[in-house]
Amino acid sequence: MCGIIGCCSNHNVLHNTIDGLKKLEYRGYDSCGITFLLNKEFHTFKSIKRIEDLTRNITVDGGLAVAHTRWATHGKVSLDNAHPIYSTDKKYIIVHNGIIENYLKIKETYLKEYIFYTETDTEIIINLIDYLNKKYSMLDSIKRLYEILEGTFACLILDKNEDKIYFIKNKSPLILGLSNELIVTSDILALPKNTRKYYRLKDGDYGYITKDTYNLFNINDQNHFLFLDYYPLNYDVSLKGFKHYMEKEIYEIPDLLHNYLNKKYESRIINALKNSNKIYLVASGTSFHAASLGALFFSQISKKESYAFVSSEFQIDNTYDEKAIFIVISQSGETADLIKAISKIKKKNYEVIAICNVENSTIKEMSDYFININAGVEIAVASTKSYTLSSLVLYQLSNIIINNLYIEKLAYVINNISNVFDIKDRIQKISSYISNKEHLYYLGKGIDYLLCNEASLKLKEISYIHSESFPAGELKHGSIALISSSSIVIGIITDPLNASLIRSSLEEVKSRGATVFVISLNSLSLDNDTIIINDCDKYLSFISISIILQLLAYYTALNLGNDIDKPRNLAKSVTVE
Ligand code: F6R
Repeated sequence: MCGIIGCCSNHNVLHNTIDGLKKLEYRGYDSCGITFLLNKEFHTFKSIKRIEDLTRNITVDGGLAVAHTRWATHGKVSLDNAHPIYSTDKKYIIVHNGIIENYLKIKETYLKEYIFYTETDTEIIINLIDYLNKKYSMLDSIKRLYEILEGTFACLILDKNEDKIYFIKNKSPLILGLSNELIVTSDILALPKNTRKYYRLKDGDYGYITKDTYNLFNINDQNHFLFLDYYPLNYDVSLKGFKHYMEKEIYEIPDLLHNYLNKKYESRIINALKNSNKIYLVASGTSFHAASLGALFFSQISKKESYAFVSSEFQIDNTYDEKAIFIVISQSGETADLIKAISKIKKKNYEVIAICNVENSTIKEMSDYFININAGVEIAVASTKSYTLSSLVLYQLSNIIINNLYIEKLAYVINNISNVFDIKDRIQKISSYISNKEHLYYLGKGIDYLLCNEASLKLKEISYIHSESFPAGELKHGSIALISSSSIVIGIITDPLNASLIRSSLEEVKSRGATVFVISLNSLSLDNDTIIINDCDKYLSFISISIILQLLAYYTALNLGNDIDKPRNLAKSVTVE
């Protein structure tokens, strides 16, 4: 979603600001803009195309700039609505991530005299600064935003008479990077490589950076700035010869899995799970699909009642058992829907275990226990390695809490995982067949149905082919009406208990003319199956199957020439509800 970067230096900052903005592209955006402050004058450039287009039009450079990638929420995609956004009198400028919930009330209460040029909630904030700055210092005006604004906001604000970038953060990420220049950004990936260390701002933090220094305050804690946790910057975002980050990230899975073979989990987490009688999992999108696998593992392997919920639909009521525990799953650790769900859970005093790929994330901060999946930065919008690793963590936990010996079974799968990449040509064959089709259906039952759900999401996200996933037994209750001679159905068969039912459903669609591809486990396979994987414990088939289905989505999108790492309308970190 939206991205922010602001740089202050004794040198020109165009290069680092635009470079940072490009690194924010993966989050998804539909317009972008930059403002330089030079000799008390703002110079603003905007584009409703890509950052290359913005860069072509920039005619100045200087030591202070703020820039933004916008993913439209309030107001359409337009140059006016693109950030940075001016106050009415053009004395102040702002870039903002998040959503102001009470913006209409603020307009009514404080800003009747102001003229508005955009449809954004952001313009309210910058005019409010103008209003407050008539009575208070700039820093106090920034601080007072906390009293007035409701919602989420990470903002950079400039006053044209001061060579400073003011910042404020509430429930939307913001990071302070220290290198030859001072940088405030919403994402560590946007920091230049030579950044010595960074600090992840906390809610309630506000302050400013200048060319040489920074000043940081917190509304709740006066001495807060004395005890800051700084982190060194260490990540690798090179493509390493792959065409796309998505492909690279799928190919990283085998090495990442090896790190999990002897994985130890904190005993307090294991005990918390052991002591619970019900396990609820909450997440969104692909992480929800990992959560659904988790619910199946806890129910069937650990024999604990367990359910998965989509975060945006999650409601808490008093029917949850006192000894229930919640597991939340998020790659980014910043998903707004999940943050809202966690707030509801915490209000009822339940304990929360977070499974996440970002160490210093909001979701980690809100949770009682934290498991870092350590997948390394995931840049492609379509989540791949995080799904496989989060699912693996859940598989391990479900075994560990009942002292099940699982390591040998897991080692077998992990040691043979490279076979999956050897059948690339067969995956590509299916992808060439489906690339020019408009609809596709995945069919499975039990764990295979859960794998189909994720396969279907992955395919539609990056290929834009309409795809749906059906439980095999449910087909006859309605969806079979869709099947005709132009239909394509992919069946997944890895569970001996369900194999024959999926086979009969596939026969039913075949007899109505559908083209069928089957991905099956060796011992359950038939001669004509398209892809056959090595036998393994039925709860571990998700490892090979998820990689195959991720590659299938990838090759299909590749055939179609789509922008694979940045699919249309999608954002990597969904920070709005
Ligand atoms: C799909 C995808 C999204 C995310 C979802 C939740 O490939 O990436 O569906 O899984 O937006 O995001 P996180 O896991 O960051 O909470």
